[in-house]
Amino acid sequence: MELRGELPGDAQAVRDLHLRAFGEHGRVVVDLVESLRGTITPEDGLSLVAERDGRVVGHVMFTRSLLDAPRRLVDVQVLSPLAVTPELQGRGIGSALVRHGLEVLRGRGVPGVFLEGDPGYYARLGFEPGGGLGFRRPSLRIPEAAFQAVRLPAYESWMTGTLVYSEPFWRHDAVGLRDPGA
Ligand SMILES: CC(C)(COP(=O)(O)OP(=O)(O)OC[C@H]1O[C@@H](n2cnc3c(N)ncnc32)[C@H](O)[C@@H]1OP(=O)(O)O)[C@@H](O)C(=O)NCCC(=O)NCCS
Repeated sequence: MELRGELPGDAQAVRDLHLRAFGEHGRVVVDLVESLRGTITPEDGLSLVAERDGRVVGHVMFTRSLLDAPRRLVDVQVLSPLAVTPELQGRGIGSALVRHGLEVLRGRGVPGVFLEGDPGYYARLGFEPGGGLGFRRPSLRIPEAAFQAVRLPAYESWMTGTLVYSEPFWRHDAVGLRDPGA
């Protein structure tokens, strides 16, 4: 298996992967990916694929959001989405994509990475509940335990405060959970 940066020719395979991995939520994820992709530059953000036998079997995206810290706004990264093709889940592909991404971001001097996800999965990759680190989630609809962060070597102790998601997350209503009864 090879991990590499996403290329323009991968877009359809990435789309199909998310539609399969996320089931009924796939459409929103695909739209989110297409908007976020436009915010990635060679220096900022990262879209990685896992390729096996010439086929895209995993994908992860890291994109810029802001941390509203007391001293100033800080550029941070948000990990979203992450998916592995259903028949190859549970073989370490998702973990390898996240670890590789964190390594690249560490090298770029990114101070922290945030996400919403299952703590049972992300704790093994170094993520901790964001609330305990002095961070606030961007929406009350994100369960407290799901809001997680990892601090990288460029992190400094004054970098606390509220995570402000980039605009595509709001545009696609891809934040937290909606209460169907509300
Ligand atoms: C979540 C996902 C990306 C993990 O990728 P993966 O390649 O299957 O994961 P890995 O092989 O690296 O890790 C597997 C381990 O994670 C666990 N795991 C997988 N998904 C999990 C979840 N949602 N919650 C908790 N643990 C999970 C597995 O049980 C396994 O544990 P084990 O090693 O103790 O047996 C993949 O299952 C997926 O695409 N799911 C559908 C899309 C999705 O929910 N994405 C995450 C959005 S936050």
